[in-house]
Amino acid sequence: MPEVEAGPGASPQEFGGGLPADTIGLLAGLTTTRAIRRYRDEPVPAEALRAILFAATRAPSGSNRQPFRFLVLSDGPNAQAAKKLIGVAARQVWQSKSRTDGYDGVDAPPASPRARLARTMQHYVDTFEQVPVLILPCLVRYREPTPTEGASIYPACQNLLLAARALGYGGAFTSFNLAADAQLRVLLGVPDGTFIAGAITLGRPAGNHGPVRRRPLAELVYGESWGEAPAWAVDPPATAFTAAGPPTSTGSEPGSGPEAGSG
Ligand SMILES: Cc1cc2nc3c(=O)[nH]c(=O)nc-3n(C[C@H](O)[C@H](O)[C@H](O)COP(=O)(O)O)c2cc1C
Repeated sequence: MPEVEAGPGASPQEFGGGLPADTIGLLAGLTTTRAIRRYRDEPVPAEALRAILFAATRAPSGSNRQPFRFLVLSDGPNAQAAKKLIGVAARQVWQSKSRTDGYDGVDAPPASPRARLARTMQHYVDTFEQVPVLILPCLVRYREPTPTEGASIYPACQNLLLAARALGYGGAFTSFNLAADAQLRVLLGVPDGTFIAGAITLGRPAGNHGPVRRRPLAELVYGESWGEAPAWAVDPPATAFTAAGPPTSTGSEPGSGPEAGSG
């Protein structure tokens, strides 16, 4: 991969000895980084993993303690075992969720966001063992859990997904690991006091990223008081929206599309 060119005032050393060139600008990347759950059958090379994990570990954390650790599981025996453990958990979680949220026997039109999501999720959990890379972001605790401790691990997870996007890869953050927590700890030697904070899958997308859809900016951003949007809270032209929560059964709501999540 070509190395990124150092901008004004930035030496190659400041980029950690050279990183691959981005395929997309920062703002364009972060407004088009969707949860990607279908992957091509190709490995993620070490050079790409290095850049992605470098970016992830540049994330902020309280007092810069850097309590994040990442178990990067590609194709070794433990990787295969961890994918199997989480795959089993994912299938159980999705089976239960698809029942309670009415995705099974979905009567929505096949092309509707809801039906496409159901198909994507089923394929995702059915093929979990084949995901190219599974990453377990972990938080090493130094005190009892606090309401803000996640802010010292989840920004690193988003950095990771954005860096993957920048290099033409894609991923999804999931919490499927929770149902297999005890087995994962034993398998991978995760010490007590360390929280396995998620399970991220990564690979070359089988489809496209496309623009992220959310509620209109004015519904999400307030100014002087709660519920009152500032005058500048206006979405860019041609922004597509979606309601909060899973897509509706009619598909008439602008749903999150086939890559949208169960989480
Ligand atoms: C806290 C959290 C938990 C999530 N858990 C899961 C999960 O268990 N399984 C899954 O497939 N996606 C999960 N997701 C991904 C979300 O479903 C996804 O980010 C959301 O639907 C938005 O998708 P989009 O960015 O493609 O629009 C989770 C995301 C977050 C932030």
